[in-house]
Amino acid sequence: MHFAAERADWRNAVVYQIYPRSFCDSNGDGVGDLPGITSRLDYLQALGVQVVWLSPIYASPNDDNGYDISDYRQIMAEFGTMADFDAMLAGMHVRGIRLMMDLVVNHTSDEHPWFVQARSSRSNPFHDHYIWADPLPDGSPPTNWEAAFQGSVWTWNEPTGEYYLHMFSAKQPDLNWENPKVRQEVHALMRFWLDKGVDGFRMDVINMISKPWDAQGRLPQAPVVREGFLQPSFAMTCNGPRLNEFLREMRNEVLDHYDTITVGEAPLATVQQGRDITHPQTGSLNMLFQFEHMDLDSVGGHVNGKWARKALDWRDMKACMARWQEALHGTGWNSLYFCNHDQPRSVSRFGTMGTLRERSAKALATWLHGMQGTPYIYQGEELGMGNVAFDRIEDYRDIETLNFYRVATARGQSHADVMASIHAVGRDNARTPMPWNSGPHAGFSTGQPWIGLNPDCPQVNAEAAQADPNSVFHHYRQLIALRRQWPVLRDGRFQLLWAEDPQVCGYARLGAEQTLLVVSNMSGQSATAPWPEGVPFTQVHCLLSNLDPADHAWGRALHLQPFEALMLLCR
Ligand code: GLC
Ligand code: CA
Repeated sequence: MHFAAERADWRNAVVYQIYPRSFCDSNGDGVGDLPGITSRLDYLQALGVQVVWLSPIYASPNDDNGYDISDYRQIMAEFGTMADFDAMLAGMHVRGIRLMMDLVVNHTSDEHPWFVQARSSRSNPFHDHYIWADPLPDGSPPTNWEAAFQGSVWTWNEPTGEYYLHMFSAKQPDLNWENPKVRQEVHALMRFWLDKGVDGFRMDVINMISKPWDAQGRLPQAPVVREGFLQPSFAMTCNGPRLNEFLREMRNEVLDHYDTITVGEAPLATVQQGRDITHPQTGSLNMLFQFEHMDLDSVGGHVNGKWARKALDWRDMKACMARWQEALHGTGWNSLYFCNHDQPRSVSRFGTMGTLRERSAKALATWLHGMQGTPYIYQGEELGMGNVAFDRIEDYRDIETLNFYRVATARGQSHADVMASIHAVGRDNARTPMPWNSGPHAGFSTGQPWIGLNPDCPQVNAEAAQADPNSVFHHYRQLIALRRQWPVLRDGRFQLLWAEDPQVCGYARLGAEQTLLVVSNMSGQSATAPWPEGVPFTQVHCLLSNLDPADHAWGRALHLQPFEALMLLCR
């Protein structure tokens, strides 16, 4: 058992996400690996992050880059050995960095021995580890649910004459959490890694583990929102009837026996669910990744799902974040993120490329890191890396992107149209190699990388950023340092300001002794906003900004240049 003070430690932390395939390659095969990560730990220490979330490194056939696991206790051969893992973990701990592993237990790989057994016959002892259903009388799949990577969630299994369920690709069969043996296996594998010394887990689509069975043991049809197609299915499985029970059990059986940091990925989560799950006494996880702010720039209910884009209205973003800030204050804890390995690059998506790229990257960072919660930085975000736009579909690697291209072009959409969506929101935007320097292959590898480089690497790379005191990197470093220095960043109540302004994004953090005013102009036009009522004005001290101090103008009104950001301490 652990004390509140220890467990509370993650609330001061900033987390850095590593996508191992693209971080650093130590042996020239073009694929990032564990020794590569170990060789770059000084960089993370210089940035100041206290936690790493490492995307999956377990044995996997890589249908979905490691999110399809065939052995939870083995390291993927391409990434190295268990000895490499131990060395990496020790290197992190020596630098005061804690490690969160990715826990992918909504599904396994179809090559996991459990599934190989399970699919062989209905009487196999592992059959009930997965989710099976008979066809409808006409032979078609039992429900109208669409899988995340296109097609039906049901795939036919000849040896047993049944369909099996997979919310993602057919190579990612969903585990049956109703089966206590499955839950015990998950607890055991969590203990395996915690006993090795890891510090916690990021839990992949964890709010999908409880499925909505009816009294007859059947799964219901999804409401028809698009005639003639399969229907969106996440709403059917997210936050299922036994989710909280399963998570509480996991807390009791495993998490409470270690000093852990946990964050659950939770598509479609509402603020109420966020409160329930992250409540320190009655909940089960420290934080959630909610998605509401990731869905504001796509057209809801469209047959193309996330690929149907629309412009972000910053008023929606402000309102969304404010809701989460207010709802969880004092009762739970937020995670704060703009990017990860599933999202496009935040500066391309929410900021601007071109001459104001760096300034806008800093504006986004300031606005996000000033809120209450634990900020997450996705590798390369601290450099202000932008999206890529490969012309040829052959240059993409991501299963979601490739399947969307195939299906959308078959439906008659033009190559140009489909590529525009892929350039905007494809997951490979975030998966190009981390640029370490301006040398060959950006210092990521001595060989040909598994996916193309971002063409901006000669300018946008870690070595250049570390050498430039005005870089995005150093701005992040300062934000991380400020969070440790000013308790108001951790504890202060959030108050949204200028809610109706389409450009000026700002809020106050109201602490016991100080008020913090955080303002970003999220547009390429200058803007003016009145000094907010209730924020003291006698002593205003600038903690951080993204312009030369001489260029600031604040008085009874704030005159903001394009993408200007300020963090002001007001007394
Ligand atoms: C999560 C992961 C994503 C993966 C999916 C299936 O959303 O972040 O990369 O494809 O789950 O595991
Ligand atoms: Ca390698």
